[in-house]
Amino acid sequence: MKRIIIALAIGCTVLAGAAIAQESPIKKRQALMKQNGEATDLIVKMFKGETPYDGAAAAAALTKIGGMADEFITLFPEGTAKDSYAKPEIWQNKADFDSWAVKLKEDSAKAATAAAGGMDALQPAFAELGQTCRGCHEKYRVPQ
Ligand code: HEC
Repeated sequence: MKRIIIALAIGCTVLAGAAIAQESPIKKRQALMKQNGEATDLIVKMFKGETPYDGAAAAAALTKIGGMADEFITLFPEGTAKDSYAKPEIWQNKADFDSWAVKLKEDSAKAATAAAGGMDALQPAFAELGQTCRGCHEKYRVPQ
């Protein structure tokens, strides 16, 4: 019986370790960015005509992008460039890096509003948002 309890305790420790690894700032910031990729894909599919245009769904996806920005920039503690695609320049220019996240919030809010006006209204705002994604990646993300 004692052995079973010890085995269970060890099992739990391993599980807790896995849960902590899952919550690491690197995993968390990558998961948030992955959501951004999914949100923009959803809208790109509408532009390509692969799915019907849905202004409410586009606005929701854009609002989600803006909603992650504040949290995203808190997930870069010193020493976490390693094992990620974050460039060391982030820590040398943290204020500039953070300003890209502010721009991301502004652009996504503008695009979310524009989405109600249909695809033609959304197009320029979405293009501007895309430039912000690319701009930050060019400076601060290791090309994949
Ligand atoms: C403030 C700068 C910044 C902005 C703005 C930004 N990104 Fe990123 N993105 C990053 C960084 C840095 C990484 C690498 C993170 C890491 O590996 O730790 C990344 C990674 C990603 C990834 C890969 C995630 C993975 O699976 O590891 C995707 C997809 C992505 N970004 C999409 C987007 C999209 C779409 C936008 C615009 C809507 C965007 N990003 C805007 C900085 C930014």
